[in-house]
Amino acid sequence: MAKSAAGGPFPGGVNWVLPHQGDSAIPDPLQSPEAIVDALAAQGYLASRRIAQVIYLAMRLNKPVLAEGPAGVGKTELAKALAAGAGRKLVRLQCYEGLDESKALYEWNYRKQLLRISSDSSSGWQEMSEDIFSEDFLLPRPLLTAIASPDPVVLLVDEIDRVEMETEALLLEVLSEFQITIPELGTVRAGSQPLVILTSNNTRELSEALRRRCLFLHIPYPSPEREREILFARAPGIPEALADSIAQVARSLRGMALKKPPSVSETIDWARTLLTLGVARIDSESFSETSHVLLKYQADIDIALKELATEG
Ligand SMILES: Nc1ncnc2c1ncn2[C@@H]1O[C@H](COP(=O)(O)OP(=O)(O)OP(=O)(O)O)[C@@H](O)[C@H]1O
Ligand SMILES: [Mg+2]
Repeated sequence: MAKSAAGGPFPGGVNWVLPHQGDSAIPDPLQSPEAIVDALAAQGYLASRRIAQVIYLAMRLNKPVLAEGPAGVGKTELAKALAAGAGRKLVRLQCYEGLDESKALYEWNYRKQLLRISSDSSSGWQEMSEDIFSEDFLLPRPLLTAIASPDPVVLLVDEIDRVEMETEALLLEVLSEFQITIPELGTVRAGSQPLVILTSNNTRELSEALRRRCLFLHIPYPSPEREREILFARAPGIPEALADSIAQVARSLRGMALKKPPSVSETIDWARTLLTLGVARIDSESFSETSHVLLKYQADIDIALKELATEG
């Protein structure tokens, strides 16, 4: 279907029929796993080789990445850092219960359509409907924005496990074909291949069909060595010994039977708190005074205080 690209609500117009680009579409910063590690590090995101490899393969194979793992391990931040590192625009679809097509894909601008209809009594219905169901009356939502973008974007579909199964099915056409069908207009195909990152905390089982279409990336809690590097990046000026202790305490806490083990974001907050308070060493007193930054339940704080005291 041919469609004018100029003058519509999409930057540069909708690329209605452009084919996917080949390898030449991979921009320089993301051309190898090593380059991906470096591009992410330049944004303060410390990625494991495994993360970089999955991203690299996703780009080469034109597949979305499904990033799963505990809360606060850097799933969302990965997409943000990739966009910034590759100089791409980040298009974000935040998922929630009740998210529907009109918020995820596109919506007709009913108000503008009504105005158009009421301002013109001379046109026949055929002419009018061709006009009001055209690109000018379309409100693109994140998925259509990503597909229609003339430049490759990073599309973040955040917390996909929060939407219902039916909404998940909506995403399948986009994720498998990189296209969206609008009954009144035709099919919009991606003019440039978006790098798609879906994140999930696994609060609900995702469909087999969705999993099949994605490359799976499990992001676990970082090793103490990596967490230490993350602390250097996110809490500048932290002394090495303090970063070491924080990473070791975080590792111990994650091995305890806590309701909410500390995530990377909480260890970063804790590091910043200790720096702000001028605490140079973690002992039972400084831990007890600041543990509310790291742990979010009193029961967890009690367990941690007891177990850390026995560990010495
Ligand atoms: N590898 C990393 N390098 C640098 N910073 C990191 C890394 N992993 C996590 N962080 C930090 O942890 C914070 C939390 O990360 P993020 O919000 O991406 O977690 P998440 O996995 O999406 O969590 P949730 O499941 O709760 O949404 C980020 O702001 C970031 O500063
Ligand atoms: Mg997140």
